[in-house]
Amino acid sequence: MSTSVIILAAGKGTRMRSNLPKVLQPLAGQPLLGHVIHTAKKLQAAEIITIYGHGGDQVQKAFAHENIKWVEQAEQLGTGHAVKVTLPVLAKTGVSLILSGDVPCISEDTLQKLLNASTQTGIGLVTLTVADATGYGRIVRENGKIQAIVEHKDASEEQRKIKEFNTGIYAVSNAKLHEWLPKLSNNNAQGEYYLTDIVAMAIADGLEVASVEPERAFEVEGVNDRVQLAALEREFQNFQAKQLMQQGVHLIDPARFDLRGTLKAGQDVRIDINVIIEGNCELGDNVEIGAGCVIKNTQIAAGTKVQPYSVFDSAIVGENTQIGPFSRLRPGAKLAAEVHIGNFVEVKNSSIGLGSKANHFTYLGDAEVGAGSNIGAGTITCNYDGANKFKTIIGDNAFIGSNSSLVAPVTIGHGATVGAGSTITRDVADNSLAVERSKQFAKENYQRPQKLKK
Ligand code: UD1
Ligand code: CA
Repeated sequence: MSTSVIILAAGKGTRMRSNLPKVLQPLAGQPLLGHVIHTAKKLQAAEIITIYGHGGDQVQKAFAHENIKWVEQAEQLGTGHAVKVTLPVLAKTGVSLILSGDVPCISEDTLQKLLNASTQTGIGLVTLTVADATGYGRIVRENGKIQAIVEHKDASEEQRKIKEFNTGIYAVSNAKLHEWLPKLSNNNAQGEYYLTDIVAMAIADGLEVASVEPERAFEVEGVNDRVQLAALEREFQNFQAKQLMQQGVHLIDPARFDLRGTLKAGQDVRIDINVIIEGNCELGDNVEIGAGCVIKNTQIAAGTKVQPYSVFDSAIVGENTQIGPFSRLRPGAKLAAEVHIGNFVEVKNSSIGLGSKANHFTYLGDAEVGAGSNIGAGTITCNYDGANKFKTIIGDNAFIGSNSSLVAPVTIGHGATVGAGSTITRDVADNSLAVERSKQFAKENYQRPQKLKK
């Protein structure tokens, strides 16, 4: 049976006190709505319909690359009305999963369980039982069977004691949605069209309403303000950290680890505190990441040791390299095995060959460095003339003396040596020495200037 996913995202999110629409607020580096869309795609949804209201342009622009049907709900007349506005575009057959754009952590597993439970009955929902369900729609059961959902504001004293509540996540046959939604009324305490009233309609039609509980409570937690957003961020991070540890990653303190994307890690990877992993990253076996590193869209091969406070963006790092402390690898940095990159060294769009070293205060931009070369402290590749960028090529086994400027385009040959403090503007041949600096001279018995007498 084909699955449609309907995502409610028309709410204003006033309590966020933000110019950014609520569903674009980030959780683990991705907009809230992005998490829901991601999960919908994992379920192989035949169509994803998103209901927007406030900030619709901004929301649509953020997901322009996704195949989504956008439906506007100009006035927020209730959850039932929100789903009703999708009817003109909603498939006539199949089943719909109805999700909320501000409930980002609902899992594929729970939704799959919901779909399975609802196939027979035509309608099912995700419920959760808690000590105090104040504010939520309560699940009214008779002989264990769901009879209705009663909103908190419409509930009697007795009903308000019910601990099982509606999480706002449903699976409903599309045929039934087409039949039921036009019949909703807003005759209730809030004067809204309640989606929850379809439960009573199902009962009246003689259907049984299925229900499932999520494996983890945070899956159904919604976000209304920044306090809830931060709390959910921590819960989601703890969950991810636990998964990584179960896969064999050694997180020294899971409470001080953040994954904003995906991490594929080998065996015996050790990650010290306050590390942030963003985008899609891979760490090979025995990789060690020191405290305070930020690693984005980067692959680091087996055996590499990264010392504290190093920053990576779109880099590829070979086996058994040593990085940091305080190194910066920018997009296009490509390090072969056994390379050493030390403190305050920045590498951008450059490849560095097997075993080469740049250990201190260096900028390598648009460079190709061969194997076994040593780049002295304070070396700068001058790759930019203010208008265009040029390449620096350094061969194998070259030695660049400290505080040298290599003005690109320039090639330093294999086995070549550059004397310290040189500004190199012309190519240096293989195995030769280039020194560009004024000669040192000496004055014997030199008298320093004296202070003038007033
Ligand atoms: C709804 C349920 C309630 C449930 C609770 C779970 C109804 C009538 N009640 O409560 O049983 O316990 O969710 O959180 O459905 N939205 C729109 N358009 C609207 C109204 C809402 O898009 O006209 C969206 C909101 O942006 C939000 C979601 O629907 O993402 C839920 O709306 P919200 O107002 O938070 O839910 P309640 O009606 O309080
Ligand atoms: Ca000089």
